[in-house]
Amino acid sequence: MKQEDIRQILERGILAPSADNLQPWKFKPGQDQIDFFLDSERIKNFCDEGYLVPYLSAGAAIENMRVEATYLGYCLDASYFPKEGDPLWVATLHFKPAESEHHPHYSALKQRVTNRKFYEQWRTIDTSIYSKLEHMVSQEKGFKLLWMKKNHSSFRELCCLLGKADQLRFENERLHKELIETLRFNQEDTQKTKDGLDLRTLESGAGGELMFKLVRSWQRLKLLNSVGLSFLFNLYTQFQLLTSQAVGLIAAPTHKPLDYTVGGEIMERVWHEITCEGLAIQPMEALPIFIINLLQTGGHDFDNKQRRKLEELKRQFLSLFELSDQNGLILLFRMGHAEKPKIHSLRRPLESFLI
Ligand SMILES: Cc1cc2nc3c(=O)[nH]c(=O)nc-3n(C[C@H](O)[C@H](O)[C@H](O)COP(=O)(O)O)c2cc1C
Repeated sequence: MKQEDIRQILERGILAPSADNLQPWKFKPGQDQIDFFLDSERIKNFCDEGYLVPYLSAGAAIENMRVEATYLGYCLDASYFPKEGDPLWVATLHFKPAESEHHPHYSALKQRVTNRKFYEQWRTIDTSIYSKLEHMVSQEKGFKLLWMKKNHSSFRELCCLLGKADQLRFENERLHKELIETLRFNQEDTQKTKDGLDLRTLESGAGGELMFKLVRSWQRLKLLNSVGLSFLFNLYTQFQLLTSQAVGLIAAPTHKPLDYTVGGEIMERVWHEITCEGLAIQPMEALPIFIINLLQTGGHDFDNKQRRKLEELKRQFLSLFELSDQNGLILLFRMGHAEKPKIHSLRRPLESFLI
């Protein structure tokens, strides 16, 4: 296999989405294969015991590599978790020569983006698109895509639940610390690190950016929360959701690492398809990640009051989607029509991922 092809495949792999744009991947390229690892330095453990959320972004990177490999004339075959007892070694990707084919998602590799703008609330989505996406997910055994559309009687209830979960992000010291660490408050920092969340990609406008700068200090945020500031974040999330046409949830059969890795591939496939349809999508992962944390760790990073609140949110959320504690929660997202974001998140240079 040509080394420049391996490089090209990796370049597309790292365009994948990752929670907080942490890009938690490491690659060891070989002759006809790539060993794929999670980067332990870049995995935040909070809300994330068992690496389940990083596995999603690993799956997304694998899917990107599959699309690029098809284009270059290779077939990608993944051996997942090749070394027993090493949860960081996600897969070995083998490449075999195949017919070079046009891949329907090829154009989406570079266009895919997280769109955090308010969406066009009156512009509906053709029902055939929902069915196509559902079908795409159901191709993988045990996985399903569940919809809560705008006209559903429980849509507002769901918006409320998700608003409350986002509010919690601003009421927990550790979550606040992690958020502030991943935010890039100026262009110099963004360019220097080429990771994390560029404040401008949050699409919250000058007022929102000022607000994030204001709440950079936990002490100040705590003080402002005593007069109800965190509730504003709740309302903002609800408003974002109310401008969307639907909320989708990709669910897996279990919480096993393999389900989250394969789930990440499915997530990226869905994201590509939505991109090809010219639609906007934003993951709304606060509540699913908190639920995963509750299930995996008992929610030990939350105080008692927050844990009780979360237990209740979890119960209501799972019941709305008719899911059980056993189901893996792959991706919760909102979807609609919107203008494309002008500022895109950056990626680190490929060399920094190689071992
Ligand atoms: C597992 C996962 C969870 C995410 N959760 C959120 C979220 O809750 N809210 C959000 O706005 N973006 C979320 N994102 C989007 C990432 O922040 C985004 O992918 C990353 O910043 C890179 O930007 P891009 O998708 O535009 O390339 C999530 C992405 C992944 C893969």
